[in-house]
Amino acid sequence: MSKSDSGAPIDHREPVNLRDVAELARPRIDASAWDYYAGGARDELSLRGNRVAWERIPLHYRVLTGHAERDLKTQILGQPTSMPVMIAPTAFHRLAHPEGELATARAASAAGVIMMLSTLSTVDMEAVCAAGPGPIWFQLYVYKDRGLTRDLVHRAEAAGCKAIVVTVDAAIIGTRERDVRNGFHLPPGIECRNLVGTGFEEVSARAGQSGLAAYVKDWLEPALTWEDVDWLRSVTRLPILVKGVIRVDDARRAADYGAVGVVVSNHGGRQLDTAPATADVLGPIADAVGDRVNLLVDGGVRRGTDVVKALALGAQAVLLGRPVLWGLGWKGQAGVEQVLEMMRRELDEAMALSGCGDISTVTRDLVTGGT
Ligand code: GLV
Repeated sequence: MSKSDSGAPIDHREPVNLRDVAELARPRIDASAWDYYAGGARDELSLRGNRVAWERIPLHYRVLTGHAERDLKTQILGQPTSMPVMIAPTAFHRLAHPEGELATARAASAAGVIMMLSTLSTVDMEAVCAAGPGPIWFQLYVYKDRGLTRDLVHRAEAAGCKAIVVTVDAAIIGTRERDVRNGFHLPPGIECRNLVGTGFEEVSARAGQSGLAAYVKDWLEPALTWEDVDWLRSVTRLPILVKGVIRVDDARRAADYGAVGVVVSNHGGRQLDTAPATADVLGPIADAVGDRVNLLVDGGVRRGTDVVKALALGAQAVLLGRPVLWGLGWKGQAGVEQVLEMMRRELDEAMALSGCGDISTVTRDLVTGGT
């Protein structure tokens, strides 16, 4: 280790995998912010379960398929992406790096992948959308104040966002006990920039609780219904995806209510603890609605082999959440780019060793075995 100009230690080791990136990032991120990113709800069973479920699925590789090169490119909602990996919406990127969501968006553009931008961005959505040519989808939290919610959607449209991803698994915030202990809040100078001037920009300290939990309780709509998806469709021409579904019947309803996509997600294990692992519910959901909606999945994706498994089970792409924050905390835009390149190399290797030449050949038999 040597010292930077500011006196902070610099670590010159090159990470080999995403876990290494997490280790490099950790000393650079404030401990309370680290806990906020890393934590899950309650006993963190779903947080761990997501990871374990990907690990448990074997890949039944094919042999002698004659592919010297792999083509990882695909399209999601007709939008081209260099690989079936997207950036998940996560809150408060400036807690990881001063450039925050701007750095993430630039990295996404450089890597040719789609980024989902959180409502709780610490950079204005207009600036994030202007940061690169890469498509941005806007993740929406529905506020009790529907006028404010509609304004957010209209701003996202005007800024050039290509889809609205409405989060439906957060009626309240699942208790992340680390955040309660830390009294998690946003430090001075970091605020929800999409809400500046509305009175909804601050996530402040509240005695004995997580500031975010208090914020969500105060301002977000706890009683959303499927009719709210209709309402959302009535206020925007953008395609709508529903994020946070883990049941077949809910995925069907999302399709019935006109969602063009479903993100199979348990919010990274941060909402209802003991919710099933996304890898375990993806296949049945794909069987039920895979021909009606675009399916995406997140939760514990850390390896190229996980991406192959997700695609084989019926997803069109995976979302990467925490690893992006690790890359960002490690070295900003360059760190996020490295995280994405690491995933690209791993995915390429996993496809090569599975006998897949392109994304269309990543099919269910890879997880069930050939017949
Ligand atoms: C926000 O979406 C969170 O999960 O903390």
